[in-house]
Amino acid sequence: MKALIPAAGLATRCLPASKAVPKELFPVFDRPAIQYVVEEIVDAGLDGAVFVTAAGKESVLDHFDFSPRLAMKKSMAPALQKQVDYTSSLIDVISVRQKEAKGLGHAVFSGLAAVGDEPFAVMLPDMIFLSKGKAVFSKMFDAFQQSGASVIALMEVPEEEVSKYGIVEGSIDDSGLFSISSLIEKPLPGATPSRYAIMGRYIFTPTLHSILRHDYRDGSGEMELTDAMTELIKREKLYGLIMDKDDFVFDTGDLKGYALASAFMAAQHHPDFMTQLQKLLEDIRR
Ligand code: UTP
Repeated sequence: MKALIPAAGLATRCLPASKAVPKELFPVFDRPAIQYVVEEIVDAGLDGAVFVTAAGKESVLDHFDFSPRLAMKKSMAPALQKQVDYTSSLIDVISVRQKEAKGLGHAVFSGLAAVGDEPFAVMLPDMIFLSKGKAVFSKMFDAFQQSGASVIALMEVPEEEVSKYGIVEGSIDDSGLFSISSLIEKPLPGATPSRYAIMGRYIFTPTLHSILRHDYRDGSGEMELTDAMTELIKREKLYGLIMDKDDFVFDTGDLKGYALASAFMAAQHHPDFMTQLQKLLEDIRR
């Protein structure tokens, strides 16, 4: 199974920072945001990644390539050299272009030829997942293998946050998975009884190919991924894997979420980071 990483969006919520630098390359402490999702793919043992990019985003691919300029540098600290070599060897990337930023459904459609006519994963690179136990994607993969059906990650969010996400309705079935009966994109708080939000990790059967291909066959389609999933549940089962309390997601798609993820990773690496930050904040307020 291949993973498709849609990274061709305009990132308007991160402007002006994202004007010339793709948000996928914003450093979350010591590595670009997109490296976390690539490491997730490698850890899950998937067959490779298809990056959907766009004009001006070539540097996203460069990050995972060999760097001739760095190779010319004679002496580099061995630990640093190891990190540089690690990123170049992490994954073989297939790259496709989304010629216009027509939304996530269209980005996935743009990558379909490269994933082949088989089940595939979609992993949003602006969501960084952390788990104390087994990784969420690994649990989704197990669920997919047991059920043979499409599986997406779900997280219960507070009522006031439902309007940021796609929300699903349905019920938990005997397998412990959430059987999805409908999807509502960004509902108003209180408009839906459910607070299960779709969290940027998906495994789809090839039925999703035919749904998107049918919509975009003459170039005029405008199906969003949520619409495609609504169509999918008319034809076959769609399960949600509900994340538990030991699973965490950083949404780096807006600047506050990005800053939070960076601060968290910095604090993980440097135990005195929070104390220093706190002191700075107190000093400046004085
Ligand atoms: P977002 O909804 O976060 O859109 O897309 P965006 O363009 O990145 O950011 P804003 O909302 O303008 O600030 C979720 C993922 O889907 C990709 C994005 O790159 C991101 O990883 N995407 C979105 C595409 O690849 N193409 C698109 O047309 C839209």
